[in-house]
Amino acid sequence: MIRLDKYLADMGVGTRQEVKKQIRQGRVCVNDNVVKSADLKINEELDLVSVDGNVITYTTMEYYILNKPGGVVSATEDAHDQTVVDLITDKKRKDLFPVGRLDKDTEGLLLITNDGALAHRLLSPKKHVDKIYYARVRGKVTEEDVESFRKGVNIGTAECEEWTRSGTLQILNSADVSEIRLTISEGKYHQVKRMFQAVQKEVLYLKREAMGPLYLDPDLQPGEYRSLTKEEIENVTKWNVK
Ligand code: URA
Repeated sequence: MIRLDKYLADMGVGTRQEVKKQIRQGRVCVNDNVVKSADLKINEELDLVSVDGNVITYTTMEYYILNKPGGVVSATEDAHDQTVVDLITDKKRKDLFPVGRLDKDTEGLLLITNDGALAHRLLSPKKHVDKIYYARVRGKVTEEDVESFRKGVNIGTAECEEWTRSGTLQILNSADVSEIRLTISEGKYHQVKRMFQAVQKEVLYLKREAMGPLYLDPDLQPGEYRSLTKEEIENVTKWNVK
């Protein structure tokens, strides 16, 4: 049970002050009766709430899969740049955030939700959730690089070493600009770019294709998103991490 003004504010009808005003103005009905008290307790499952005749359904958790485009920051708000949360124009809740960060120029799979417990499980360094990336890399990627990534590379400095766990590097095309797929089970800052730097190569384009049980939907163009299906929500919330 939650207060009527909180119910409406949570669903983005307006600020707490704005919805209180709408309630005073008699624009809000609960079970077809006009109500004038903002502190009326609402049963989110059973009560029918409407504003100006439009039914407002309460949503506790939201889950979206976004194909992040380049040029957008993985944050909830930013003074200069558009954020990934800004792209979710159909959102109901105001407390959505991206699960993890992709660099501004990285594209691909990003889960946007307000499920903090899930985010914690997917991001915890202890859980080692696999992330799969596709990249175009300047220079010929070699079997030696595959072996280096398998063993783990130092992405820190000689003085202050920072070793990665084993990663699986698959060479899709080795050329002046190579194409690769890399599976890693960590999420260190700029990890993929720094792993290639460690073998003297530069990532030119990076896209995340998967995170745990979630795969990027090929129908989503960069900038597009959709709600997770029931099955995807079930898979990801019950994800059995290593
Ligand atoms: N590794 C990177 O270098 N950048 C990303 O955005 C994600 C992983």
